Amino acid sequence: MLKNVVVAGGGVLGTQIGLMCAYTGHNVTFWLRSESSIERTTPKIKRYSELMLTDLENAKKLIGNPVGKMLYPRGMIRTWDGITAEKIDELLAAGKKSLEENIHIEIDMAKAVADADIVIESMSEDPEAKIGVYKQMKDLLPEKTILVTNSSTMLPSRFAEYTGRPEKYLSLHFANTIWKNNTAEVMGHPGTNADIYKQVVAFADEINMVPLQLHKEQPGYILNTMLVPFLKAAQELWANEVSDPATIDLTWKLATGAPVGPFAILDIVGLETSYNIHIMDPRSKDESTVEYKICKLLKEMIDRGETGVNAGKGYFDYTK
Ligand SMILES: NC(=O)c1ccc[n+]([C@@H]2O[C@H](COP(=O)([O-])OP(=O)(O)OC[C@H]3O[C@@H](n4cnc5c(N)ncnc54)[C@H](O)[C@@H]3O)[C@@H](O)[C@H]2O)c1
Repeated sequence: MLKNVVVAGGGVLGTQIGLMCAYTGHNVTFWLRSESSIERTTPKIKRYSELMLTDLENAKKLIGNPVGKMLYPRGMIRTWDGITAEKIDELLAAGKKSLEENIHIEIDMAKAVADADIVIESMSEDPEAKIGVYKQMKDLLPEKTILVTNSSTMLPSRFAEYTGRPEKYLSLHFANTIWKNNTAEVMGHPGTNADIYKQVVAFADEINMVPLQLHKEQPGYILNTMLVPFLKAAQELWANEVSDPATIDLTWKLATGAPVGPFAILDIVGLETSYNIHIMDPRSKDESTVEYKICKLLKEMIDRGETGVNAGKGYFDYTK
């Protein structure tokens, strides 16, 4: 078991990953870069803990419901077959205790990683920031430590040389709201050791994820190879003023039976992440392109603080 987990980055995904690891009995240390990062991350830890436990509590109402097995929070309950309200109460009590006891926050990187079995890097989708932290970390990590990145859009081969341990470095990619959508895409680069890859697959299972193994590097993994073009197509319709987010989402939901549309997904992902992805496209610098228009509109929303569900407002209003 990779017991001691360090999560670098206390944003949307880093917080969820750390909590999921704590819930499943791992010692979790969030490495954050400053006191102000602690101020931003602490309320997220509280908010996501509450969401996870509320979803677990609400799962009792799904018992006996024929679609319960499709809707239960899969990261919180490993097996739905044979579940009872009593078993959920036991999970709630144990989970609450684990979330309270297993989480630590540390600013001093050397202290944070001193006994790390695995470091999960989940910092902003900014290659320079990631390289800077890998360089800072490489001489501090114990020999045993496996280092994984949660980067959605960048390949591990891009960073391997900066880690000082390319054979122990690979991608472990989670989906947002991981306690419900418990996928973990595991993707090595050509220099990743096969045994380390297997250990990470086993770790993903340990933290109640379903490991989805990629056999080679693929930009966007399996999920984002499909999801990113889908979200971009929706944002193009919006930025080109073909239609508005509410109508676009309604169209998608009515036509496919999907519970949410692309703009609701974007609000969950967070508009800063969406902006960071679009701004890497060179076309976003050219005023005549739709990529430019998307970035401009996103920047306006971000400047107004409308960054998605976490902020209470994004494309849609969550305050009511
Ligand atoms: N948001 C999603 O739905 C999602 C899904 C899967 C994977 N990811 C990936 O997870 C990673 C984080 O995304 P997020 O949505 O949580 O972003 P976020 O903006 O919510 O959080 C980023 C975190 O990184 C920290 N950070 C930035 N630069 C840093 C530095 N130099 N040193 C230390 N900390 C630094 C920030 O303080 C913040 O806590 C990205 O690589 C992203 O591609 C995101």
